[in-house]
Amino acid sequence: MKFIDGMDLSGKTILVRVDFNVPLKDGRVQDETRIQASIPTLKYAMKQNARLVLCSHLGKPKGRKMPELSLAPVAERLGSILGMNIPLAPDCIGEQTREMVNGLESGGVLMLENLRFHPGEEKNDDDFSKELSRMGEVYVNDAFGVSHRAHASVVGVTRHMSSCLGGLLLKKEWEYLSKVGDPARPFVLIAGGAKVSSKLGVLENLLDKVDAMLIGGAMANTFIKANGYSVGTSRVEDDLLDKAREIMQKAMDMNVQFYLPVDFMLGQGPDAESGEGVCPFQGIPAHLMALDIGPATCTLFSEVLHRAKTVIWNGPMGAFENRPFSQGSRNIAEIAAGLQATTIVGGGDTDALIHELKLQDKYSFISTGGGSFMEFLEGKTLPGFKALEECIN
Ligand code: 3PG
Repeated sequence: MKFIDGMDLSGKTILVRVDFNVPLKDGRVQDETRIQASIPTLKYAMKQNARLVLCSHLGKPKGRKMPELSLAPVAERLGSILGMNIPLAPDCIGEQTREMVNGLESGGVLMLENLRFHPGEEKNDDDFSKELSRMGEVYVNDAFGVSHRAHASVVGVTRHMSSCLGGLLLKKEWEYLSKVGDPARPFVLIAGGAKVSSKLGVLENLLDKVDAMLIGGAMANTFIKANGYSVGTSRVEDDLLDKAREIMQKAMDMNVQFYLPVDFMLGQGPDAESGEGVCPFQGIPAHLMALDIGPATCTLFSEVLHRAKTVIWNGPMGAFENRPFSQGSRNIAEIAAGLQATTIVGGGDTDALIHELKLQDKYSFISTGGGSFMEFLEGKTLPGFKALEECIN
């Protein structure tokens, strides 16, 4: 895989696949993290007087034109970040768009309209890929967040371009996440979130790589129940109890320290106005739910984390969107931020919490990927990376 740094892009028209799938509210960009993450690549190419044609998806319009999913607010926000006017082409393919591309000045930037307005994007359709490839001479993938999708703008287009490169964001993601293969030790995984099922691939793939796993969030309930304890009305995946036992057994066989919460903040439900107090994991009453890790668990996890040299974190420790059940996740976010270790975070929930606490600068790296971050940790080859590797430059 080749990346753009060190490449001479001067005078070239660059088709850049970015991931500007950002949250919008009332027609305005609510969180510009992903836009900011693309700036180093854009500035690098602009400095070389390249012409930049940016393409992205936004939301899930499923092949239909939906005005509320136009990239217009994103082009406007990017324009104000870069201090320049960024026109939006009415489509991502077609003659009118081609004319706008041809009219670009050196160092100029054009945003194409939402790729997913065309069904060919998600189908990785070859004709659509070919049309899209006409919008640039060099293709750059800087969209890590969508690199797990075999879509036309990520995969198909590379078959029609003579030069394909990874952008600076893609490179950074690649470098940090590759540390999983050769981490400074001890290497600790913090896994949270609602479901064991969505983390199974990551847990199984990382079992032979980590020294310790810390499990929080509702997924911990399934492991607690699998160990024979009652979890009250807590959310549990009963069909995964055997799998949970298998994972714990494997961890023991492989000498991986596998930590479950030792206490919980209880509540009537995730939306309850207040908690019902803390109890040890063996004592969850039949009518209550475990909704956050408790203080003893935070102390236990903190001790493990303070010995770590590499930490990867995905998923909150409880129903953190609701204040009474957010303290465990907040504590872990503070603890991880203060470590003398490489700290890598991925996934929208965890990322949002860290930004809310303004701790983002205290982490080594916050991935812009959600699904792609998970698939990378599952040990899968991301189609976007594979396409760049296979592209004949
Ligand atoms: C994301 O937000 O995770 C990426 O932009 C991918 O979006 P998707 O899940 O709609 O493919």
